[in-house]
Amino acid sequence: MTLSNHAPIPELYVSADAALTLKHDAGNLPSWDLTPRQMCDLELLMNGGFHPLKGFQSEADYNGVVENMRTADGALWPMPITLDVSEAFADKLEPGQDIALRDAEGVILAILSVTDKWIPNKSREAEKVFGADDLAHPAVNYLHNVAGKIYLGGPVKGLQAPVHYDFKSRRDTPNELRALFRKLNWAKVVAFQTRNPLHRAHQELTFRAAKEAQANLLIHPVVGMTKPGDVDHFTRVRCYEAVLDKYPQSTTTMSLLNLAMRMAGPREAVWHGLIRRNHGVTHFIVGRDHAGPGKNSQGKDFYGPYDAQTLFKEHEAEIGVTMVDFKHMVYVQEKAQYYPANEVPEGTTVLDISGTELRRRLREGIDIPEWFSFPEVVAQLRKTSPARDKQGFTVFFTGLSGSGKSTIANALMVKLMEMGGRPVTLLDGDVVRKHLSSELGFSKEHRDINIKRIGYVASEITKNGGIAICAPIAPYTATRRAVRDMVESYGAFLEVHVATSVEECERRDRKGLYKLAREGKIKEFTGISDPYEMPETPELRVETEGTDVDSCAHQVILKLESMGLIKA
Ligand code: PPS
Repeated sequence: MTLSNHAPIPELYVSADAALTLKHDAGNLPSWDLTPRQMCDLELLMNGGFHPLKGFQSEADYNGVVENMRTADGALWPMPITLDVSEAFADKLEPGQDIALRDAEGVILAILSVTDKWIPNKSREAEKVFGADDLAHPAVNYLHNVAGKIYLGGPVKGLQAPVHYDFKSRRDTPNELRALFRKLNWAKVVAFQTRNPLHRAHQELTFRAAKEAQANLLIHPVVGMTKPGDVDHFTRVRCYEAVLDKYPQSTTTMSLLNLAMRMAGPREAVWHGLIRRNHGVTHFIVGRDHAGPGKNSQGKDFYGPYDAQTLFKEHEAEIGVTMVDFKHMVYVQEKAQYYPANEVPEGTTVLDISGTELRRRLREGIDIPEWFSFPEVVAQLRKTSPARDKQGFTVFFTGLSGSGKSTIANALMVKLMEMGGRPVTLLDGDVVRKHLSSELGFSKEHRDINIKRIGYVASEITKNGGIAICAPIAPYTATRRAVRDMVESYGAFLEVHVATSVEECERRDRKGLYKLAREGKIKEFTGISDPYEMPETPELRVETEGTDVDSCAHQVILKLESMGLIKA
């Protein structure tokens, strides 16, 4: 007899022939280009990962899910899975209409037969699903600031799976995993969900969980979308591959799950359980603060540390997966091995390194001991997070025209080039306007476009380990903030306000522009007839009146040293 976790589960794909015909006919349908999150959702809908959903949820399903974690027909489902679109797109549609769902390259992956179109109450969704309408929660921020205003629902016909070019052999659909477990005769399988690199403590706890449940082990990391700021999945998968060798052969396997997480704590744990059941898993490890989103805007945790375990336990039978509770493992120095925190022998020394401490050690190039992690894992992490003095960064000068930005920026560039080690690029205001922004003028809109272009280039340079020095006027706080956000995803951002007063700039008037501005011959001139919003908390403010250029540039060098970005 086939075990229930070995039997195939329904998918939403149509036959190859039907897909060909549908694809041909779909050429005339309205098209929606899927967002990265929708791509993840669609893949799991089509391959059965979100069984029993048959498409994007209808309004009735959505309401039931938001209010009491159940679709209209009563099935347990804790997470809204809807297709959010723009008002402009939704205006063109009526229920009953089919639409083609395309990937980023325009390939048609599925047809959605729209049955429902509605304006969701996003604040209610935030309160009920994520526990608070607080933008500090990444999914609430997504809901209000990224997701479209209108939701569409209806059944989906799958034409083809999204293409992945990375780690192909490590990705499995639910039916592929079920077939594998059937072939290996794995009756009990315990899954470990993770969005972080695995260290020795994780290896210990997963190994123990498998022993406790007398089950085989599936390391099932999420590679779709995780919490902003997480280690990228390419690095993580290389780390997981290194750890896989440390398990006894033939007891453990690893498979990548292309899920877009919501960090919804308790509801997310139940959702993860249902998804794992669909992948043929029988047991699931749920830990302290499972899928936690971090602190809320008051600095408090969104959920209690064991809320996820409690909610999972409440619905365990219906989920169809047994919960294995996660033991926090710590290293006991005298015994030279890991113990569950509550079983530490008396009088012994416990060693632990927190996530924050690990990041600090990686950042500052400090030793990470072998008792904490495997050398192969540390080597992978060091490759992607080199020490701060090897990472890229951006120095962003802002100040009035003629304040001395370009001169100091040039001096800084030469000093950094003299030190060597990293390539340096100067994005000076005038030079950028000549090569990147020649069609732009000086309206607020055009200045913003100009600065965002500089920010984009600087963020790419930073990402690739170089130093970008920018020297535009950049008169608006919000735009400078946007540039900071772009750069800080990849490296440090140092804002330097060149605080020369408008009177001094006008007195110097090196380009004769102030005179023309006073005469009204140049319109919208910053400081004269256009605003300059003073930076309130730049990393550094330099005064040029009475200080020579060399000293100003040296102040920046000292600041870079104090931030660990260059070594003395
Ligand atoms: S902005 O606001 O950041 O987009 O300006 P930026 O790209 O740095 O360009 C500033 C240089 O353009 C010259 N210029 C003007 N500046 C300010 N306002 C007006 N209306 C204007 N028209 C021309 C000026 O030479 C600036 O160069 P710097 O090096 O700052 O003196």
